[in-house]
Amino acid sequence: MNHDIVEKNIGLMIVLIIVAISFGALVELLPLFFQKQTTEPIAGLKPLNALQLSGRDIYIREGCNVCHSQMVRPLRSETERYGHYSVAGEHVYEHPFLWGSKRTGPDLARLGGRYSDQWHRAHLFNPRDVVPESIMPSYPWLFHDEVDAELVAAKMTALRKVGVPYSDADIAAAADLLRGKKEVDAMVAYLQQLGTLIKYRR
Ligand code: HEC
Repeated sequence: MNHDIVEKNIGLMIVLIIVAISFGALVELLPLFFQKQTTEPIAGLKPLNALQLSGRDIYIREGCNVCHSQMVRPLRSETERYGHYSVAGEHVYEHPFLWGSKRTGPDLARLGGRYSDQWHRAHLFNPRDVVPESIMPSYPWLFHDEVDAELVAAKMTALRKVGVPYSDADIAAAADLLRGKKEVDAMVAYLQQLGTLIKYRR
């Protein structure tokens, strides 16, 4: 019996199991690459400007994404707290995306505009100055280190290669936009635009 051959030959069985499982993955994953809903930007989506983009890189460098997710799930408890659930079209220009699932702190996908710039600066300098019970670390060095203005044009050029629509003018103007800016300015600029394209009630 053919069955016998498979059951007595573990190598063959492993190969057949992998083939069987990969069909499941193909059916679930492949269509996502071709659906408009997951590949097209939502109306009004613009790539991050040079300052916001630098802020995003500092966010990754400091590991903010280790404690904060950026994805509101389509569940009542989440939309009541954070706002409209996240949609794929908001994230098409992000490489890599920062959805995450670990939430030591709150989700930040719809953070933009919720607090003033001044609040963010105080909070980043020492979270306990504004939220006494906070366990978030302080980031005082963001206030004296300057943003690396020379690197950003190369980053934008690289992102353009993977489909982020930066124009030559964007890239040419990038270094000037960053001149003299502190890392905290870039971080706040990044945080204040998060999730603001989709409006919500809270
Ligand atoms: C060790 C985990 C941890 C890390 C790392 C961390 N945070 Fe937090 N964050 C928290 C916690 C806990 C809170 C909730 C208390 C508070 O507001 O401070 C919070 C709150 C926040 C809030 C307020 C969100 C809201 O809706 O009220 C912002 C904004 C924020 N963090 C940004 C950042 C940024 C930017 C970084 C990286 C520079 C960062 N966090 C790193 C744990 C963390």
